[in-house]
Amino acid sequence: MNSRFLFLAFVPFALLGLASCRGGDHATQIRAIGGDPNRGKASLAEYGCSACHVISGVTGAVGRAGPPLTGIAERSYLAGVVPNTPDNMIAWIMNPQSINPRTAMPNLSVPEGVARDMVTYLYVAVR
Ligand code: HEC
Repeated sequence: MNSRFLFLAFVPFALLGLASCRGGDHATQIRAIGGDPNRGKASLAEYGCSACHVISGVTGAVGRAGPPLTGIAERSYLAGVVPNTPDNMIAWIMNPQSINPRTAMPNLSVPEGVARDMVTYLYVAVR
């Protein structure tokens, strides 16, 4: 068996591995981010995020001023400026201007714990 064939034979397994990382195990992801997705879902409505963002699962979240947050876990960058990681998203929600001073998204004085809950919901429950 030549090495080229060996390499090709492993490609499907490598892709499978990638696919399972992307989906991930929800419980593990929730633990890694450390918030409560159910509280996060409620907070996304309470803090008025829904006025500017479409967020599946959140009643009344039909706003169009900001980008839809459904599927946000798959996006590479947040607001086009920082890599999309849970920590960066928490920082963004707490103070968008600290990441991009010219952004139209307002600072809604979201406490860290609440932002963490929101990010847990957005990453894990909204796909
Ligand atoms: C007044 C409208 C408005 C409100 C209210 C608002 N946002 Fe935003 N949001 C925006 C806009 C506009 C952007 C795009 C920012 C940019 O690209 O500079 C944005 C971007 C984002 C992003 C990054 C999206 C991406 O695709 O990169 C996240 C995450 C986010 N908002 C979460 C929230 C959360 C959570 C709340 C509630 C605490 C909220 N937003 C409230 C307008 C709003």
